[in-house]
Amino acid sequence: MIIINKPNEMSEKIKSLKLQGKSIGFVPTMGYLHNGHMSLIEKARGENDIVAVSIFVNPTQFGAGEDLDSYPRNIERDEALCKEKGADIIFAPQSVDMYPKGYSTYVDVEGSITRGLCGASRPGHFRGVATVLAKLFNIVQPQRAYFGQKDAQQVAVVRRMAEDLNMDVEIVSCPIVREEDGLAMSSRNTYLSPGERMDALVLSRSLFEAKEMIMSGKRDASNIKSHIKSGISGVKSADIDYVEIVDADSMEDLEVIRGRVLVALAVRVGKTRLIDNIILEVE
Ligand code: PAJ
Repeated sequence: MIIINKPNEMSEKIKSLKLQGKSIGFVPTMGYLHNGHMSLIEKARGENDIVAVSIFVNPTQFGAGEDLDSYPRNIERDEALCKEKGADIIFAPQSVDMYPKGYSTYVDVEGSITRGLCGASRPGHFRGVATVLAKLFNIVQPQRAYFGQKDAQQVAVVRRMAEDLNMDVEIVSCPIVREEDGLAMSSRNTYLSPGERMDALVLSRSLFEAKEMIMSGKRDASNIKSHIKSGISGVKSADIDYVEIVDADSMEDLEVIRGRVLVALAVRVGKTRLIDNIILEVE
């Protein structure tokens, strides 16, 4: 496994691999890797000649007052985990090399996909995500790029961007990896105190309850959202950012639950903002 820091060195390396006819699978991350990230690397390993993992805490997707500075970092541990999973290349650029002086170009995915959910509560977030992914796709030139359903809106954004900008990359979405007790794995879970870690179970618990309700025939979105909200309100350290039921592709609000449906929520537990979701195919 090799580690590359400079974007131009990465481009050169990729060029030579492509000349050898190698297919490239790409897993973009912000590091502090856990089993959710590992599942993406594993999937990429099975489908490509070369697996490239990027580790870059992208400043443009963090808003003012968010956790850019405190975001957990441990590059040595990340390197060991990537090696263990059989990654071939880690691309870990510096901010100054990704956004040098005079940097002025941004990618904005507009419309319903970015209007609601995290797009509403984190203004500018998806602009930063789309921008860095456009740059990373240009540098890494992957055949396939792997994303977690944990960030379902991010998957919809990147699919839209790739299609709209004629990017020749297949976007692969992978299931959410959870702790044994149901909590969706996240680098931000390390912020939680032991008490908050217990309280954080209300996210997955309320989603599983919503799934039960839908499976048993309930179709009124506002009724299900109210049920989820009242469950979360019962937990003292939890503060709801949003609870939404939307079409999983367009992210448009649904009143009646039908089709490929995303039930998504963001909840602050203490100071830590957590997200989780389920996607259901409903007749
Ligand atoms: P990061 O939060 O590090 O996540 C990297 C990838 O891992 C994303 O595709 C995310 O959805 C996936 N992932 C995280 N937790 C997961 C879990 N529990 N199960 C399955 N997949 C999981 O998402 C980002 O970084 C950034 O926005 C990025 C795409 C790298 C752009 O900067």
